[in-house]
Amino acid sequence: MGNCCRRPPARCAHVSSPDSQNSHPLKEIFSIQEASSPQSGKTSLTTIKSNESASGGLKSYIFNDLRNVTGNFKASNLIGEGGFGQVFKGWIDENTLATSRQGVGMVVAIKKLDPESFQGYKEWLAEVNYLGHLNHENLVKLVGYCSESKNRLLVYEYMPRGSLENHLFRKSVQPIPWDTRMNIAISIARGLSFLHSLKTQVIYRDLKSSNILLDSNFNAKLSDFGFARDGPIGDKTHVSTRVLGTGGYAAPEYIATGHLSTKSDVYSFGVVLLELLSGRRALNERVGESNLVDWSRPFISDKKRVLRIMDTRLCGQYSKKEAQTAADLAVNCLNLDARNRPSMTEVFTTLEQFHTPNDYLRTPSREPGRSWSKSPPSFNYKTTPNTNTI
Ligand SMILES: Nc1ncnc2c1ncn2[C@@H]1O[C@H](COP(=O)(O)OP(=O)(O)OP(=O)(O)O)[C@@H](O)[C@H]1O
Ligand SMILES: [Mg+2]
Repeated sequence: MGNCCRRPPARCAHVSSPDSQNSHPLKEIFSIQEASSPQSGKTSLTTIKSNESASGGLKSYIFNDLRNVTGNFKASNLIGEGGFGQVFKGWIDENTLATSRQGVGMVVAIKKLDPESFQGYKEWLAEVNYLGHLNHENLVKLVGYCSESKNRLLVYEYMPRGSLENHLFRKSVQPIPWDTRMNIAISIARGLSFLHSLKTQVIYRDLKSSNILLDSNFNAKLSDFGFARDGPIGDKTHVSTRVLGTGGYAAPEYIATGHLSTKSDVYSFGVVLLELLSGRRALNERVGESNLVDWSRPFISDKKRVLRIMDTRLCGQYSKKEAQTAADLAVNCLNLDARNRPSMTEVFTTLEQFHTPNDYLRTPSREPGRSWSKSPPSFNYKTTPNTNTI
């Protein structure tokens, strides 16, 4: 285990083979920049919007300025904490992006890496290199960075609703309605499809609910590109690499062999889809349910029993047909043979086709299997119509 396994069930690193391309930080900078430069970062998808292409232009910040704008990283500005450091609220000027004063200007999220972590440094570099060049509405925006001696920080757009993990599993948080869950799944699929369709594919490698951040309208964006890496070149189907990722989400063949492919992300997507359907964690300490995939397999492959996995916090307020199709999709994504998993673009297209936003709320009485025995719960959340297109 690497020193990144500080906060179970956070990411784990088992060294199975040297990750030769990422062995030197500077080499890493250049190889990644090359791979995701505006020239090479073209996608094979024809309708990617112009603002979704690769681009640079990060702001470089001074450590003292970031310290001041977070009130010396005070506890009341703490937003969250991960395996590699803490995340604080800060404020910048909207136009110049220069640090402002506390409470003045645009809110940003400032991630401060633990200065002692070498693994954290490698991740910091990968994050700067990937998110600094990739721009897509389902990837969190990196505004800038700070690198002064051992102080390494990252400044991101602020995602007011925090992580999907918090919304799915925190008892104190209102459950996310079905429509929003499906829109989140579509947004994630769209973000991954974008990464996998770049001329030099990017494998995200760390898809999990804590890395999916939500804006005020519950649009989902992928964050944390620390483990991301370039996909195979030419006819190759995979790259050989160290096994990095998070227990419960990583694809079995990747854990067993270190062979990483875009299909590893597809497997992790299947796990997140199960989390959205069931409201259960990928890894659960409760006896008999330790692994969500193992627990749910007998149900999701049986049409008669599939709805037994559904999150009881939804109070039956979901389309049975959509839930069944989503479960089928999860089965396909979780296929033990990576070759038989769909591509993320296929997943995205399928999700978009079968999910009609708010449909089940508009026509409750016509759809069999939709439970309206109780009046629908009143959710505070705004659900946005699904306008996602690639
Ligand atoms: N841009 C952001 N806007 C708002 N909140 C954020 C942002 N980035 C991170 N957070 C919050 O901080 C928490 C910690 O994030 P971080 O990425 O450091 O760790 P993690 O994803 O929980 O775990 P891991 O270290 O395994 O990635 C997130 O779960 C989220 O609640
Ligand atoms: Mg994270």
